[in-house]
Amino acid sequence: MKLTTLKTTLLAATIALTFSSMARAAEEVEVLHWWTAGGEAKALGVLKEDLNKQGITWKDMPVAGGGGTAAMTVLRARVQAKNAPTAVQMLGFDIQDWAKEDATANLDSLATEEGWDKVVPEALQKFSKYDGHWIAAPVNVHSTNWVWANKKVLEDSGVTEPPKDWDGFIAALDKVKAKGFIPLAHGGQPWQDATLFDSVVIATGGPEFYKKAMIDLDKEALGSDTMKQVFDRMKQLRGYVDDNFSGRDWNLSSALVIEGKAGFQIMGDWAKGEFINAGKKPDVDFLCFRTPGTQGSVTFNSDQFVMFNVGEDRQKAQLAMAKAVMSPTFQSAFNVVKGSVPARTDVPNDAFDDCGKKGMQELAEASKAGTLMGSMAHGHAAPASVKNAVYDVVTKHFNGNVPSEDAVKELVNAVEGAK
Ligand code: GAL
Repeated sequence: MKLTTLKTTLLAATIALTFSSMARAAEEVEVLHWWTAGGEAKALGVLKEDLNKQGITWKDMPVAGGGGTAAMTVLRARVQAKNAPTAVQMLGFDIQDWAKEDATANLDSLATEEGWDKVVPEALQKFSKYDGHWIAAPVNVHSTNWVWANKKVLEDSGVTEPPKDWDGFIAALDKVKAKGFIPLAHGGQPWQDATLFDSVVIATGGPEFYKKAMIDLDKEALGSDTMKQVFDRMKQLRGYVDDNFSGRDWNLSSALVIEGKAGFQIMGDWAKGEFINAGKKPDVDFLCFRTPGTQGSVTFNSDQFVMFNVGEDRQKAQLAMAKAVMSPTFQSAFNVVKGSVPARTDVPNDAFDDCGKKGMQELAEASKAGTLMGSMAHGHAAPASVKNAVYDVVTKHFNGNVPSEDAVKELVNAVEGAK
């Protein structure tokens, strides 16, 4: 081969390679998320597959740690390095914090074309939009005041029906304990302790008290006798966890209930994803009911895919992902697996199991009654600074020897300092 021919061939090959990698970059989304548990990964698979069918590849960026703070720490480093992922799973107030930093993309034209304003509830739009502009695609609504119970363990322990109030719950935990099971499957991580706390605040003070303390951050409510009782009840629950609970991931606690080693778990409805993934059936193998004393109220969080500022070559795939996330058929397929309910109000409930149907109905009812409230534990009641301050107090009290009176004082100070 002549030298000139060789040069031309090499040049052609280089051009072809450049074009093909450009095409690859354009058809790829890099997604940061914390969905690493079995049920979560399966639900995410529905989205990956959907995008794959459109020729878009998925570059996975998982950060284990559940609803804690690990993912946001990783994101901070990426954004500082000017290398943001295409999309990031995010909760509530965190979304607003990132938008304030001018790190997010503008999805307005897609949102208008697809009519998102008409189908996404106000309570979610508050987080999906910043300064009136769409920046995120909400994929679900989880509710966090649920109890998951092993039906056989309850039967063996003589618990004949789901407890309806706090004393009934304690009596049921005692019965399960007396039979040698772990009464309460729990993982001692700050966000999980805070998940219990949300429920106990409502069970103790009712929804108005929850709003005052957790959403309005009212000093009087935070420092009240009712709050002292909340901490006393947290200590009561602490007496029903097993010795190995410290640091345990939430899905391993779900596994204890699934395997018949434990009676109850207080956890958001992503736990249902684990039961379903293990082949278990609602009402046959497991029960789902509201944390006793919180019936009629729903604390919620919504996972949203926040779209970040990326180069032009990645925008086409980014918009395709946002569009896919918001499609009604996808929202049904995804949420059936995930345990949550759709973030759109126009998705039929046919494909959902009994727990899912119940979740959808109770969410709508609570929304009407004014008792649908953002979860503090899951970033929908107050900004991250306050949330983290609450985590610290709750966890220190739950795991240590802090008297409830002191925890109340610490809570007031921590929230005041973080506001
Ligand atoms: C929550 C999130 C859920 C679930 C859970 C545990 O914050 O909203 O989708 O993944 O964490 O990982």
